[in-house]
Amino acid sequence: FNVPKAINEPVKSYAPGTKEREQVLATFKELYNTTVDVPNYIGAEEIRTGNTKTINPPFDHKKVVGTYHEANKEHIEKAIAAALAARQKWADMAWEHRASIFLKAADLLAGPYRAKINAATMIGQAKTVHQAEIDSACEFIDFLRFNAEYMQQIYAEQPVSSEGIWNRLEHRPLEGFIYAITPFNFTAIAGNLPAAPALMGNVVVWKPSASQTYSANVIMEVFKLAGLPAGVINMVHGDPVMITDTVLASPDFAGIHYTGSTHVFNDIWAKIGQNVHRYKTYPRIVGETGGKDFVVAHPSAIPAAVATGLTRGAFEYQGQKCSAASRAYIAKSIWPAVKEHLVNDIKSFKIGSPEDPSNFISAVIHEASFDKLAKYIDAAKAAPDAEIIAGGTYDKSKGWFIDPTVIVTTNPQYDTLSTELFGPVLTIFVYEDDQWLETLKLVDETSPYALTGAVFSQDRYAIEEAAKALENAAGNFYINDKPTGAVVGQQPFGGARSSGTNDKAGSILNLLRWVSPRTIKETL
Ligand code: ALA
Repeated sequence: FNVPKAINEPVKSYAPGTKEREQVLATFKELYNTTVDVPNYIGAEEIRTGNTKTINPPFDHKKVVGTYHEANKEHIEKAIAAALAARQKWADMAWEHRASIFLKAADLLAGPYRAKINAATMIGQAKTVHQAEIDSACEFIDFLRFNAEYMQQIYAEQPVSSEGIWNRLEHRPLEGFIYAITPFNFTAIAGNLPAAPALMGNVVVWKPSASQTYSANVIMEVFKLAGLPAGVINMVHGDPVMITDTVLASPDFAGIHYTGSTHVFNDIWAKIGQNVHRYKTYPRIVGETGGKDFVVAHPSAIPAAVATGLTRGAFEYQGQKCSAASRAYIAKSIWPAVKEHLVNDIKSFKIGSPEDPSNFISAVIHEASFDKLAKYIDAAKAAPDAEIIAGGTYDKSKGWFIDPTVIVTTNPQYDTLSTELFGPVLTIFVYEDDQWLETLKLVDETSPYALTGAVFSQDRYAIEEAAKALENAAGNFYINDKPTGAVVGQQPFGGARSSGTNDKAGSILNLLRWVSPRTIKETL
């Protein structure tokens, strides 16, 4: 066993004058001035159905940078058949050979494809260059490299044998195919969700988000160039309900690797239940869903640190990280200082196209998101128990721009302390200093989600109290840090409750879901 030791891909700075900045901006320009025609990848074929939708950058929504082709039911059935046709050879391939394909993909992303995957993520998903770099380059590369190492650890784990008896565990792929449904907000997650089961010898039907087809196409280009055989990962676009229903009707459906909304995951889970008698094997259900991630600051917290945690945690990538802070509970005695830092920080943010690296944030993903956020901002303006202390403005004339907004409420049950908004809107409740323990209970009980959360405190007992009171409220819990930015291999990522099955992306736990072990006892 000798998979290269995984180390985290270093984050490049993109500072003025650097080569990487020059390259990514040149690639951005080049892509922006051409159009791409994104097919369905089914087996060895690129299928263009003619049923197209345009791809428009969220920060310049009248501009067309490409089209993608929607598949129909027959195409989805064809994708399932292509996956199954590829299955046996892929499953039988020596694991080192499977690993080498994904390690080569990681090297391509780290080197010749870095500018392209980052520029595609900047254009298609409106990420700034720094946010693209930590996602579509570094996190994606890390997933691919660390997963190869975890795979080796899984295969190395063997039962005890004794004289005359040789016991073995074979970590076979699941019998059938895996369905991957991926979100718009992380190119890394979009790539990892099909790649992780495939690495373990499975074949995949992958449906990327309709808002991420642009960088998804680059992912397929990289996988193909790295040598991924036809049919192992089949990428399809189209009506999500039709695709899901077609996939779940197949007796060979063996598992789902999902990131997206809670309600869609609930529907899928229910449909799997209805179809369970059809399947050859009980499907693996792995999902990361919604969040209402919190920050709670004790009176002993350092106000500037809290404010930085909030501005970065709530507003980087327009608050559209699944891990983004969207509700905060701040002790009254430190609130004036936190507020001052927060409002000043937000005033200094530049907002606009990712083509200008000095912009701190850009547009939200699409019109539906814009409209939802605008509606909640307007409601806060009219609410007697809420006040907007920053932002509160929006403009959709060119792009889906929502200014970073902070709502302060006197009502601990205020709507946006529990409703997931998925955008740059942070809601704050200021609590009395002597209500610390009651506030922890409130944080725990206000939201059904449990993805990420952070406590800020200089008092060790208070940290301990928060860690205990919130032990089920966040799968990723941060002490004196923002709740975003989990790094593969360092902070395995995922939550429980309504936030998912907590199978921790970027960890051995996740890869174990994609194998069906066979125990062999041989009498010698
Ligand atoms: N790594 C991403 C984050 O934690 C998902 O924000």
